[in-house]
Amino acid sequence: MSHLAAELFRRTWSAEPECSASAPGRANLIGEHTDYNGGPVLPLAIEQRAWVAVGHSNGTSSEVISALDGRMRALGSGGRMPRGWAAYVVGVERALRERGVALPSELRVAVASSVPAGAGLSSSAALCVALVRAFSRLADVRLSRAGMVDVAHRAEHDHVGVQCGRMDQTVSVFGRRDHALLIESPTGPMRQLPFARAVLLLDSGKPHRLASGALNDRHAECEAALLALRERRPQLAALADLPSDDLARLTAALPEVLARRVRHVVTETRRVREAAAALAQNRFRQLGELLHEGHASLRDDFAASCVEADAMVEWAMNAGAWGARLTGAGWGGVVVVLAPEAALRDVERIVAGRFRDRFGTMPATWLTRASSGVRLER
Ligand code: GLA
Repeated sequence: MSHLAAELFRRTWSAEPECSASAPGRANLIGEHTDYNGGPVLPLAIEQRAWVAVGHSNGTSSEVISALDGRMRALGSGGRMPRGWAAYVVGVERALRERGVALPSELRVAVASSVPAGAGLSSSAALCVALVRAFSRLADVRLSRAGMVDVAHRAEHDHVGVQCGRMDQTVSVFGRRDHALLIESPTGPMRQLPFARAVLLLDSGKPHRLASGALNDRHAECEAALLALRERRPQLAALADLPSDDLARLTAALPEVLARRVRHVVTETRRVREAAAALAQNRFRQLGELLHEGHASLRDDFAASCVEADAMVEWAMNAGAWGARLTGAGWGGVVVVLAPEAALRDVERIVAGRFRDRFGTMPATWLTRASSGVRLER
């Protein structure tokens, strides 16, 4: 796989790419919808990655091609954003130019990825981060790792228009093999926590659609709740700063729906801290319980789950998992399962069988482990 983007580049343009880079997708162990509310997250970079190979173009427009459909597209100049994955290429280009990076005006970009798209594993962040690395190298500019996170986030948030937090880009840059990354707050400190075990990913088969929808709604609800709470607590910087005891009283004046959103953010913030402590002491059973509670909160208070994922979580628990939860933004995508290593294959088999009996298709499944962040490829 690792040479696929470079191969595709050579085949398409009969030239060598000037540089290649890759970056991982991520599975979030716990800490959902906390990042854009000032709270902590605990993701890991996964083995599945996006690869890009880039070079100058001597044509009149930039050209992009993906191994997924093998179709070469010319990116028109001017203000129009292309549709689909090519929007991320333009987003990264614009975010880099905004930072003063002098990119060649016409580029060639070949993309290959083993991160399933639309599964909540941050295929878009992986692509953006790989592009940032390759483009900055092409322009001979040194970006710090924090700078790479920033550009990749801006590309997606400001230019493509997805209200994403910074978790996905951060772990795609800073991820480390056999470690989960505790990110204390969006721009706060980080801690690498040893996590040398496999996790199981189960695809609910329901693609989640980020740019258009529900995630942006939840951002608006969290924003509205924060503004309302500030009437009584003008110092409140973010929802995650609310104390978790006494929450019922603090949110009593909010509309019921907003109070539930706040409850998810605040209890999830507490769960991430407890999860990090449990992980640091290898208390996996407790870590699993926190994941399972997190799923219930995502489902009931944040209303961001789906029946397929709910069923998978319960089947996984019954099959001997320590914990399972829908990972990523929600409304579909992948369930992450934590289980004793010896039980992972059984859990996979049992859940897949039940899923097929109930929903009529075999779900895609992957075993993966914590992997390394962005890198240049030779
Ligand atoms: C998406 C965003 C992340 C985070 C999650 C929800 O993946 O990109 O920043 O907000 O949703 O936890």
